[in-house]
Amino acid sequence: MKKPLVLIVDDEPDICELLEITLNRMDIQTYTAENIRTAKALLQQKHFELCLTDMKLPDGNGLDLIDTIQASPNPIPVAVITAHGNMDTAILAMKKGAFDFISKPVDLAVLRQLINSALKLSDPVVTKERRIRHELLGESLSMWEIRSKIDKVARSQAPVLISGESGSGKELVARLIHQQSSRSDHSFVAINCGAIPLELMESEFFGHKRGSFTGAVTEKKGLFQAAEGGTLFLDEVADLPLPLQVKLLRAIQEKKIRPIGEHQEIPVDIRLLSATHRNLAEMVQTGSFRQDLFYRINVIDLHIPPLRDRKADIPALTEHILVKLSAVNKIRPPALSKTALAALQQYHFPGNVRELENILERALALYDGKIIEYDDLNLPISTHNKLNCPEYAPDFGSLEDYLEKIERKAIILALKENKRDKAAAAKQLGLSVRSFSYRLKKLNLDS
Ligand SMILES: Nc1ncnc2c1ncn2[C@@H]1O[C@H](COP(=O)(O)OP(=O)(O)OP(=O)(O)O)[C@@H](O)[C@H]1O
Ligand SMILES: [Mg+2]
Repeated sequence: MKKPLVLIVDDEPDICELLEITLNRMDIQTYTAENIRTAKALLQQKHFELCLTDMKLPDGNGLDLIDTIQASPNPIPVAVITAHGNMDTAILAMKKGAFDFISKPVDLAVLRQLINSALKLSDPVVTKERRIRHELLGESLSMWEIRSKIDKVARSQAPVLISGESGSGKELVARLIHQQSSRSDHSFVAINCGAIPLELMESEFFGHKRGSFTGAVTEKKGLFQAAEGGTLFLDEVADLPLPLQVKLLRAIQEKKIRPIGEHQEIPVDIRLLSATHRNLAEMVQTGSFRQDLFYRINVIDLHIPPLRDRKADIPALTEHILVKLSAVNKIRPPALSKTALAALQQYHFPGNVRELENILERALALYDGKIIEYDDLNLPISTHNKLNCPEYAPDFGSLEDYLEKIERKAIILALKENKRDKAAAAKQLGLSVRSFSYRLKKLNLDS
C-alpha cells in the first residue's frame, strides 16, 4: 500500500527533524520545505495528504500557504504550528480554512492525533461512508448555504458556534457536522449547559478522582473524556457560569484537562461545537460572557435564520414531516390544501421547525382522513399578526367565504381578549352591541 505523503514546512531544522521522525514512525512519508517558495513548488509536484506548516517563515507567513492551498481545485488539509499561547494566529488560520493547529513545544501525542484525523479525510472508504444524504431539508438560499458550510466545516477541526432561535435546527446541524467529519466513528456528546447544577458542573465536564470531594465515592470520567476522539456539543453555551468559562477556555487552549483531585493533566482530543439562541456578542458587551472564550468557540459561526425568513423551506419540510409522521402512524401521507400551505407560509413560527412538527402532528390527529385543511392546522394566534389571516387562495371559495372566515377570527379574538364581555368586544371592533350580536348569530357564535 502506498504510504501517505505529508509536507512539513518549517525553517527550524530541529523541529523539522522531530516531526519527520515522528511521522516516519507512523509509516508516513515526509518532505520538508524551509520556506514558502519551496513549499509551493513541492505542492505543485507531489500529491500530499496533509501540509503541516509553521507560521513565521523567512519569506512570508504560513497564512499565505493556507490561501494558496485553499484556492487550489482540491484543497488538502493544512495544520499550523503556532508559538505557545498564540491562539490569535491559530484562530485566524482556522478562519482561513486550516484544518487544525498545534502549539509549540509540540506535544507528540497531540501531534499523532492530529495527523490521524487529517489522514482520515483523504481515506476513500471513510469519505464514501460519510457522504450520507443530507437530512437538513429546505430549498431556501440560506439552507443551501448552510449545507455547503456544513460540508466545508466538517473537514476541519475548528470550533463552530451555531446560533439560531429555538427549534431552528441547531442540534441537527451539529450532528451533521459530526457525522460528516473524520470523527464520525467516535462519540457525539451533547450537553445542555443550562441543565447541570453549578456545583456539579466541573466534575461533569472534567471528571473527578475517587474521594476528591464528599460524595465522590467512585472515579468519574467527564464529558471531555466521553467525547474522546469525537465531538463535544455544548448546547445553550450562554448558560455556562463564569467560573466554568475560565476552565473551559484552558481546556480548549491546552487541549488538556485536569479531573478534580487529579495532579496530572490528561490530553484530550475533541472537537468543540457550541450552540446558543442568545446573542453572545451582546453578552460579551455586558460582561456576562467572557470575550476570550467567545473568541475561541466562535472561530466559525454558522447562523440558522428563523423559519419565517426562509419560507421557501416550508413546503419541503412540511412534506418530509408528514411522511415521517405517517410512517409512525402507518397511514398514507396526507396532502395539504393550498390554503393550509399558504397559511403556514404566512405564519410567524416563534418555535420554528419544532413548532411546525407540532402543528402537523396535531393536524394529523384532527383531519378527516383525506386532506389537511386550513382549520386542521389550528394555527396559534401570533402576536405579530393576531388574526393570522391566511392569504386568499382559490380553495377558500368565494370572496364572501374568505371574508367570513376572517370576520369569525376577529370576533373570536375580540371575545377572548375581553373575557367574553360582548359590549367591550363590540367596542374594540368599532361595532354597536346590536350589530355585534347580529354577527354572532349569523356566524353561529352566540352559544
Ligand atoms: N432543515 C431541517 N430539515 C429537517 N428537519 C429539521 C430541520 N431543521 C430542524 N429540523 C427538525 O426540527 C426539530 C428541532 O431541531 P433542533 O432540535 O435541531 O433545534 P434547536 O435549534 O436545537 O432547538 P432548541 O433551541 O430548542 O434546542 C428536530 O426534530 C429537527 O430534526
Ligand atoms: Mg437544541
